[in-house]
Amino acid sequence: MHLVTLIPGDGIGPEITEAVKEIMASAKAPINWEPVLAGQTALDNEADLLPLKTLQSLAKNKVALKGPLTTPIGTGFRSVNVSLRQKFDLYACVRPYKTLPGISTCFNNVDIVVIRENTEDLYKGVEFAPGSAEVAMITEMSRGMVATDAAVAIKAISAKASRRIAKYAFEYAKTTGRKKVTASAKANIMKFTDGLFNGAVREVAKDYQDIEYNEILVDALCMKLVQDPNKFDILLLPNLYGDIVSDLVAGLVGGLGMAPGANIGAKMAIFEATHGSAPDIAGNDVANPTGLLLSAIMMLDYLGENDIARKIERAVYTVLKDGKEVTKDLNPNGVTTSQMTKAIIKAL
Ligand code: NAI
Repeated sequence: MHLVTLIPGDGIGPEITEAVKEIMASAKAPINWEPVLAGQTALDNEADLLPLKTLQSLAKNKVALKGPLTTPIGTGFRSVNVSLRQKFDLYACVRPYKTLPGISTCFNNVDIVVIRENTEDLYKGVEFAPGSAEVAMITEMSRGMVATDAAVAIKAISAKASRRIAKYAFEYAKTTGRKKVTASAKANIMKFTDGLFNGAVREVAKDYQDIEYNEILVDALCMKLVQDPNKFDILLLPNLYGDIVSDLVAGLVGGLGMAPGANIGAKMAIFEATHGSAPDIAGNDVANPTGLLLSAIMMLDYLGENDIARKIERAVYTVLKDGKEVTKDLNPNGVTTSQMTKAIIKAL
């Protein structure tokens, strides 16, 4: 039995984690869940965004399945997701996206893994408000290029973190039999930061002669992805671009409801779907549980429970292929989250 921390999360989080728990139990996955709170739900119930009990559970169990956490937009507290990734040094965000049976999209046979550096870049969250002493200093340092009434964010990209994520991506390619790594940033404009990222990846690439390596500017990457995604295999990006490109690729395989993910560190991993807490549909029993379920399947593989992982995968593919008992984001005449969950359990 594996003891796994379970964070149901905010919005649609509790509905989809319940679905995944039911499916895992029916498949007899050897998992004991340790439920704890984080995010808005933790703030409401325990007056703390990231309670000590949650941090202790994560540090002890070293594996977690997490529902999405709400972050207020443009104001309020900073992202608890980002805090967790930084606190536990979960440096690799790994999101495998592929065309699934029964899901009608513009392209067939998409099979792309987005690997995103998860700990630095603009997501460090070092920002200075207009009129602050820091902005005044930056105005002076930049000889007036940055106005004193500007808000300023620091984009920090280090050689160490860039090499580490590059090594992760090439090792991932090697162990999963993938053929090509494409690094993407905007080094024509951000010569020091993105230039450093590309340079570090290029150096690491030399140690992996069997794996093809190329680079592309992130704007051109977006265009090429929507024209011909089959050209790409592993995409390796700094944090911000990786976040954006992830959602683009999720759209190519059926949308956010279908997109899994994992945040992986040297000794610990938190598995979570790509999507957020979807407040627009929360509480209506309509959220697609597939993204979180595919993340749980990644977790089973991480734990070495490959047979159970394949069994659940076959069941979800059967339901998707049949196309009737799926949520409405996939089929306008579809069913509820609970009904889709029951269908997957039946297919087991
Ligand atoms: P979102 O991913 O929650 O929703 C975007 C759109 O996709 C919405 O129309 C939503 O209904 C739909 N959607 C998402 N997941 C779905 C599912 N499983 N089934 C069916 N439809 C689904 O992104 P949004 O609205 O920008 O963000 C909402 C909140 O989530 C924000 O507070 C944001 O900060 C947070 N967020 C959290 C993440 C995490 O916990 N890892 C990741 C992304 C956003």
